[in-house]
Amino acid sequence: MRTFVVISSSPLATERLARRLSRLLREGDILCLVGELGSGKTTFVRGLAQGLRVTQPVQSPTFQLMRVYQGKLPQGQVPVALVHLDWFRLSPQECETLMAEDAIPLPAIYVIEWADRARERWPVECLEISFEWMSNEGRRIAFRVGGKRWERRLNETRRL
Ligand SMILES: Nc1ncnc2c1ncn2[C@@H]1O[C@H](COP(=O)(O)OP(=O)(O)O)[C@@H](O)[C@H]1O
Ligand SMILES: [Mg+2]
Repeated sequence: MRTFVVISSSPLATERLARRLSRLLREGDILCLVGELGSGKTTFVRGLAQGLRVTQPVQSPTFQLMRVYQGKLPQGQVPVALVHLDWFRLSPQECETLMAEDAIPLPAIYVIEWADRARERWPVECLEISFEWMSNEGRRIAFRVGGKRWERRLNETRRL
């Protein structure tokens, strides 16, 4: 497990950071987002969507549990679905069921808001991104790399 921290000074900076991260994404990646309401999780997903050339608007999936956007991987422009989940209201059991859902299109990249609601259900291979409110427009964004999948990409991620 390794952690590094980026300070974002505005919503646009958070989106830009996510756009940069999107260049490293591969099909099957799982991003676990942690942080209070208003800390910037959905803003970050918006940046990911931009990087993946998603044209649909990104909204919090709080009342839908799951939103699926069609995009393309920056590397090779391969079609990929961005699966946007929110675990705020889910029981751990429901989280598991949802992740196993046949309805999820493949290939996909998963991004989970309120992922800490069911930490015990996290896959070994995931990137944890935690958001902390520092000031009105300041956010501390910490990346925690777990598993081999991300460890190999750690240095690239660090250059974000
Ligand atoms: N540096 C920043 N990064 C992200 N959002 C920020 C930042 N500074 C201020 N904000 C504001 O904070 C709010 C974050 O909302 P949102 O991304 O929906 O958070 P969450 O999904 O964590 O509840 C937005 O109103 C956004 O404009
Ligand atoms: Mg949100």
